[in-house]
Amino acid sequence: MRRDRLNFWLAAAGILLNFTLVFAGARAQSASPQAPASGSTAPKLAEEQFKNIQALKGIPADQVVPSMQFIAASLGVECEYCHVRGAFEKDDKKTKIAARKMIGMMMAINKENFEGRREVTCYSCHRGAKDPVGTPIITNEEPAPGAAEEKAAGEGKPALPTAEQLLDKYLAAIGGADALQKITSRVQRGTLTSFGGQKIPAEVYSKAPDKRLSVMHLQGGDSVTAFDGKQGWLSVPSRVHMMSAAENDAARIDADLYFAVHVKALYQKFGVEPGEKIDGHDTYLVVGRSEGHPPLRLYFDQQTGLLLQLVRYAETPLGRNPTQIDYADYRDVNGVKVPFRWTLARPGNRFTIQIEQIQQNVPVDDSKFAPPPPSPAATKPSTP
Ligand code: HEC
Ligand code: HEC
Repeated sequence: MRRDRLNFWLAAAGILLNFTLVFAGARAQSASPQAPASGSTAPKLAEEQFKNIQALKGIPADQVVPSMQFIAASLGVECEYCHVRGAFEKDDKKTKIAARKMIGMMMAINKENFEGRREVTCYSCHRGAKDPVGTPIITNEEPAPGAAEEKAAGEGKPALPTAEQLLDKYLAAIGGADALQKITSRVQRGTLTSFGGQKIPAEVYSKAPDKRLSVMHLQGGDSVTAFDGKQGWLSVPSRVHMMSAAENDAARIDADLYFAVHVKALYQKFGVEPGEKIDGHDTYLVVGRSEGHPPLRLYFDQQTGLLLQLVRYAETPLGRNPTQIDYADYRDVNGVKVPFRWTLARPGNRFTIQIEQIQQNVPVDDSKFAPPPPSPAATKPSTP
């Protein structure tokens, strides 16, 4: 029971830590003399780490589970749709065999039609369903006039602001670079509310320029997500997972206390589009792009200039896994505007954190962000 809830929270954290750890544990048990990955060693290939890789041969091992998350989100299913828990290597479900063929088909479509660019993904056809719909649907609803109207209105519309203007306005709106850079640390205490309404005490520690640690006080012990300025990690009692390169990239953005100052330098170029309404506010969408990296989408309030939503992506060999963060309840603390509420959402998962108390410029020791040392518990699983 408790374990299931813990798994739920780990999934809510977006990282299938439990799966990662099951494999880490399995490796440790098989008495492999291998040291834990230390970053400098060549990344392991999927087929070197897992037992039955055929379609995904050649991808880095740490991309297997993110690819699986992408598949599950594309079909709107859980892992169990294709796997028996605890025996992922087995081919005992028809759906898994079908999925393997589909991976091959998807790669062939892209190779033969799009010069190998990943244009068609599982989601292109499946759209969150097991059975793709191949025939146009007749709806009883009148077609929304929105699209056509917007297009017509667009012709007479004033030009959009530039990305530079919007990013400057955002920085000014939260207090400006000087005020922001006077903040050297931030400690936030509040409550995390899950989809199901469960409430969990949570804290977030930030230290300039880019250290961050958030902790959820679960019944079974603390669950921690952290970035120490270089390396991200997650932990549950007696277990630690070091983040992969893609996970690190996302964690780095979240950890940047001066994000509003740095954002312009994070991407090679920015584009602006009219954004959809968010929570009743008109928005502009700024999209940051760099070659070889997934884009970053930032929705700014047209009126206040504040950041209302951020969407980032983790690249996998099969497609991109999106994460959406909505920011609300901005309040002034020591001359800077801080969102007191944010909602983090991924396909099939969402939670909200409401902050009740903020302290800034209080001492937070660097050691707080350091990953716990590989404990003896990691080689001697303590849970039955
Ligand atoms: C729609 C079917 C489908 C779903 C859903 C799915 N998988 Fe898979 N999974 C596969 C296929 C197919 C393979 C084999 C890939 C290959 O041959 O390279 C696989 C392989 C794996 C492996 C490698 C096992 C080994 O040792 O060879 C792991 C681990 C895994 N999946 C985890 C997961 C997790 C975790 C989830 C849920 C997030 C998940 N899968 C959801 C189809 C699926
Ligand atoms: C070009 C369109 C297309 C793409 C891309 C595609 N699928 Fe499918 N998929 C289908 C269609 C159509 C069916 C239904 C076939 C049928 O009904 O017999 C299907 C069926 C399946 C099934 C079997 C469902 C069942 O009821 O048994 C699985 C599993 C599946 N797809 C997984 C995937 C995965 C995983 C990917 C990405 C790697 C993917 N598909 C990409 C079109 C696609």
